[in-house]
Amino acid sequence: MKPVRKAVIPVAGLGTRFLPATKSVPKELLPIVDVPAIQVIIQEVLASGIEEVIFITGRGKGAIMDHFDHSYELEDTLRRRGQTDLINQIEAISRMVRAVSVRQKAPLGLGHAVLCARSIIGDEPFAVLLPDDIIDAKVPATKQLVEQAERYGSGAVAVMEVPEDDVSMYGIIASERMTERSHRIYAMVEKPKRDLAPSRLAVIGRYVLPPEIFDYLEKTKPGHGGEIQLTDALQALARDRGLVGYEFEGDRHDIGDKAGFLRANIEFALKRPDLAPALIEYLRGRLGSEL
Ligand code: G1P
Repeated sequence: MKPVRKAVIPVAGLGTRFLPATKSVPKELLPIVDVPAIQVIIQEVLASGIEEVIFITGRGKGAIMDHFDHSYELEDTLRRRGQTDLINQIEAISRMVRAVSVRQKAPLGLGHAVLCARSIIGDEPFAVLLPDDIIDAKVPATKQLVEQAERYGSGAVAVMEVPEDDVSMYGIIASERMTERSHRIYAMVEKPKRDLAPSRLAVIGRYVLPPEIFDYLEKTKPGHGGEIQLTDALQALARDRGLVGYEFEGDRHDIGDKAGFLRANIEFALKRPDLAPALIEYLRGRLGSEL
């Protein structure tokens, strides 16, 4: 397998669940403590050995590219004020990653968003990261998938067991267990009704895919919700070329959901030596009086 050098990150979604916060700010820039969620995702990409990012964007998402570019006025002001630590931090973000953006001109679904990257990806395997899923892990989740893809010589997707009541929120796999954490996928269904789900193993937003996925995406007809679903193309890929579902190691936060977003903020703050003591003290007092 050729090395995985590029990552596709779809960021075209409107973020309606977080209105009014997302009226003029892309939801991907909402912070996890003081770091925009998209930067947490980019850190995972880089820590997985991937050098180039392709953002699939829509209207009003320009601020995402700006975040990873130089901000001359800001850098100049910080320099004049002698705030060296901050300058270094801000400059490091602009040098962090090589990014390009491709505009998805109509909201035709996740499969269509990934297909928009075809000409930039070319003939090599690539990763897809959905920024609503933040995965806090010792070994980055994308790296875990790259290792699986190399091991089995096929695509690999992150999976996780979810409660029966939640299966209709995810792509669900039908599979055979190969090792403690890896599964051979033979079918996939996007957001099935609870009693039609083939399992409780849900696809979480990390994928390592061979370039052949684009041929399948080209042929994929609109599916669930009238959208071109990545899940439907993956099902065909799994049938013809195999696909691994990997129960990744790590803590996943669904920051597309308000409760998940708050949980991620609390968990990340609890890991910060500058914030944890005060937060713990506050939570103890607050929850003590609540219980
Ligand atoms: C997308 C995928 C779904 C997957 C989920 C993971 O759905 O279509 O298969 O399980 O991401 O977060 P979305 O949450 O964008 O509706």
